Amino acid sequence: MTQELTSPSPAPQAPGTGRGPGWWRDAVIYQVYVRSFADSDGDGIGDLRGARERLPYLKDLGVDAVWLTPFYASPQADGGYDVADYRAVDPLFGTLQDADELIRAAHDLGLRVIVDIVPNHTSDRHPWFQDPELARQRYLFRPGKGESGELPPNDWESVFGGPAWTRTDRGDWYLHLFAPEQPDLNWDNPEVHAEFEAIMRFWLDLGVDGFRVDVAHGMIKAPGLPDIGHGAQAQLIGAQVLPFFDQDGVHAIHRAWRRLLDGYGDARGKQVIGVAEAWAPSAERLALYVRPDELHQAFNFQFLNAPWQSDALRSVIDASLAATASVGAPTTWVLSNHDVVRHTTRLGGSLARARAATLLMLALPGSAYLYQGEELGLPEVTDLPDEVRQDPAFFRGGRATGAVGPGTDTESAPDGAAAGGQDGFRDGCRVPLPWSGELPPYGFGPGGSWLPQPADWGGLTVAAQTGDPASTLELYRAALELRRRLPGLGDGPMSWAPAPDGVLALTRPGLLCTVNTLGHDVGLPAPGTPLLSSAPVTVDDATAQLPGDSCTWWAI
Ligand code: BGC
Repeated sequence: MTQELTSPSPAPQAPGTGRGPGWWRDAVIYQVYVRSFADSDGDGIGDLRGARERLPYLKDLGVDAVWLTPFYASPQADGGYDVADYRAVDPLFGTLQDADELIRAAHDLGLRVIVDIVPNHTSDRHPWFQDPELARQRYLFRPGKGESGELPPNDWESVFGGPAWTRTDRGDWYLHLFAPEQPDLNWDNPEVHAEFEAIMRFWLDLGVDGFRVDVAHGMIKAPGLPDIGHGAQAQLIGAQVLPFFDQDGVHAIHRAWRRLLDGYGDARGKQVIGVAEAWAPSAERLALYVRPDELHQAFNFQFLNAPWQSDALRSVIDASLAATASVGAPTTWVLSNHDVVRHTTRLGGSLARARAATLLMLALPGSAYLYQGEELGLPEVTDLPDEVRQDPAFFRGGRATGAVGPGTDTESAPDGAAAGGQDGFRDGCRVPLPWSGELPPYGFGPGGSWLPQPADWGGLTVAAQTGDPASTLELYRAALELRRRLPGLGDGPMSWAPAPDGVLALTRPGLLCTVNTLGHDVGLPAPGTPLLSSAPVTVDDATAQLPGDSCTWWAI
């Protein structure tokens, strides 16, 4: 390891270092799913060097920060969310030096870097789990039920399907809320707390600007690990507090981490953040994760799950804003990520809706996360052959619902168009990005791509869309540019304006945003001068025609 690794590169300068208004309150953060973003060495798997080489693209797109999904040493039983060494880079993705160089290069461009931390479980290859004595203390082992302990200790189901327990050769059982290769840690053990604080300091010392906390609602289980008594547990995730999810005890952990993050940042004059991936049953319970002494952000999955209907969108937006305002936090909007069906497909297979939904999201007060490829309007890939699939949920007969992604908006699919992904599994949103050229791998790297890309993606590449004002990529660029230019568009006030049925109108400082959720044009008095629209809008004699499934930003 070089000396450089212990001397982090300075974070980008921005107003709001120290404890003042934070950079994260209105930041647009781009999720890089490392294995599918850009491949530098030709093995068909994206890597850190590939990501570093493409940072100028992200700068040019206009985002403020990048979130990198896990690139740590891992057997890859769950796309790297099964970590065997939290301080090492998996050779698939490069070296620690590559991580260091990526962070420095991002900072040089004025981009912040957030990395994943996976505290609910480790890999079963983690040295702690490999050592039977340590494992018994640091994971959740229990005796089985039945005459000879042949039955699992309780009725909990894995999010990926099947029982959440696996029996060892020694006859006892260990809990894994996800795959058997992902044993759950015992957060009653102080050594577990100490280790994760040390891991955070390790990456902070390397210069990262924050952590996306995986399964932030999962570390604490109800005392006694009680049965749920309900067969379809996947349906209950995010709908109610379960003995293994959203237990009140998780908040003490987040408070401790906030003290660590604030202390670390204050000592260096910067703000480092935590963002919760938490599935909570209501906006109010989600807001508990972003109280002033807890994490900074929590993904708003209720917005992501909302159907494309004006009333539903409005009530989810109102509930989210009210809940986060009650604790003084901004709302963190998101439409796509590596666990859910891409929103182009989820919103009824309609690129028009996806573009409109994005413009709506970027007009709302708060922060927003973008998932790689949504700026290209990529659809979910729905015809992957079984033999290439890698989602562990596929092999365990589960579904990508609940803690790892919602179902699909079949009800609002236009004209019966297919709204779902491929059986609800997650490989279809993880197909490597198309950068250029007419044929796979479309500039993804010098080799192939770990999942096959569709033959018709030539028109969707970054190169094909760049400079085309009608393209989705240029729409994202223009929206992010305007967001930077219009003061108050980020973390400022918002109010609703009157609008016809099926249409939303909201005002922000200097801007009015209309969203027509109906499948046909709607006319209304032009509210101002069109600034940006997801579909061509016309204004005649002071009457605006909003195209069906469109969103327009108006200067007022
Ligand atoms: C991650 C998933 C992962 C799961 C288990 C999630 O929330 O986003 O990709 O499978 O946690 O770590």
